[in-house]
Amino acid sequence: MADSTKHPTLTIDPHTHVADLPFIHYQDNTLFIDNVSTKTLTQTYGTPLYVYSKNALLANYRTYVASFAPLSNVQICYAVKSNSNLAVLATLAHAGAGFDIVSVGELARVLKAGGQAQKVVYSGVGKTKNDIITALNAGIGCFNVEAMSEIELISQIAGRLGKTAPIALRINPDVDAKTHPYISTGLKEDKFGISHDNAIDAYHFANTLPNLDIIGIDCHIGSQLSNTQPFVDALDKIIELIDTLHTQGITLDHIDLGGGLGVRYVDETPASVSEYANALLPKLLDLQKKYGLGLHLEPGRNICANAGMLLTNVDVLKPTEHKNFAIVDASMCELIRPALYGSVMAVIPTDLSTIAAAKVWDVVGSVCESSDFLAKNRTLALNVDDTLAITGAGAYGFVMASNYNTRPRPAEVMCDDGSHRVVRERESLDDLWRGESV
Ligand code: LLP
Repeated sequence: MADSTKHPTLTIDPHTHVADLPFIHYQDNTLFIDNVSTKTLTQTYGTPLYVYSKNALLANYRTYVASFAPLSNVQICYAVKSNSNLAVLATLAHAGAGFDIVSVGELARVLKAGGQAQKVVYSGVGKTKNDIITALNAGIGCFNVEAMSEIELISQIAGRLGKTAPIALRINPDVDAKTHPYISTGLKEDKFGISHDNAIDAYHFANTLPNLDIIGIDCHIGSQLSNTQPFVDALDKIIELIDTLHTQGITLDHIDLGGGLGVRYVDETPASVSEYANALLPKLLDLQKKYGLGLHLEPGRNICANAGMLLTNVDVLKPTEHKNFAIVDASMCELIRPALYGSVMAVIPTDLSTIAAAKVWDVVGSVCESSDFLAKNRTLALNVDDTLAITGAGAYGFVMASNYNTRPRPAEVMCDDGSHRVVRERESLDDLWRGESV
């Protein structure tokens, strides 16, 4: 459980914090995102409010493209789950991205946003018959298959539809990603993928079935990884398999290394995308030379986390003998990461000219449970009605929001070099009970 002892007092210098967040800066003491003042944003749209920078999204995507440029046949498949707003997807689709999906709902979003089915890879541990039919009919680029029974099911359904299904097997390489256990996916006790020990048998099994085109091999070991070593270890284990498969006559077109590279929320020091690329490229170039393999990657967080923020108003200041509580209009409903994982996310003022004595605050929502906190033990100078920004909230923010306590989900706004527009309306109460009856 989240525990205040795990949250030592934290003082974040706002200027230093934003210094390496692209397209987020202070100007005349006011926080700006993509050249739009947060004051304008809150006055126009209210709070709580998700705001995104189109140019940061594009820059982050292009960093991946540039870092892996020495390799040919690279497809960056943005992980839709991290932020699935249609405008985010459309921005990336337009820039040439492919997409990693985990549901046919995400597939529908990609197509609606103008993404190409051919550039979609479909991961997910529990694909149903209908999911497979929908994805085959849409003509997706690759199923990342996670179980022996799924291989059989895809083969049967493809046969029935008179189609050939492109597949990669998602291998669980049993590598410790050294991240939060809830977001680690590559250990043998995790539910994901086909175990490394069974991988060769699984390929031979797939090879005996009709209507399958075995095109790749895939792994995704976890999320918010700081170090490149677990990625390299996973790659080594996958290379062993590729070598073995090759000697046994099974040749592939691509290797998919999943997503997972972490970001700085507060003071983490994750490898940069270019360090990540440099750690992997020698081995990937070798694979390309030997077997002609292309590369798929599935980054989510790294593209959108620091391209977005959650803006929230301070509604109530409640100092007590034990703790000072700043009650804000966002909560675990709008941003569940702190409550769910004990994540530490930066909370910074949007107006640095505010005059108040700095105190140590727990920044909490007004939801009826004590897990509802956004930040603990933060040194902040606060007044009622200040607006705070929670940075890093562009990923796994809105997408994990709920309507618990009958709270409408916030609006989402896309900023683009001084302009801004709503890309999802704030929910109304009518939205919340649509489909219900008395
Ligand atoms: N590919 C697959 C198969 C995945 O399961 C994931 C994330 C990704 C790619 C993208 O990983 P990323 O590059 O974003 O790390 N809600 C959690 C994160 C859950 C990640 C689940 N899978 C959080 O807020 O930290």
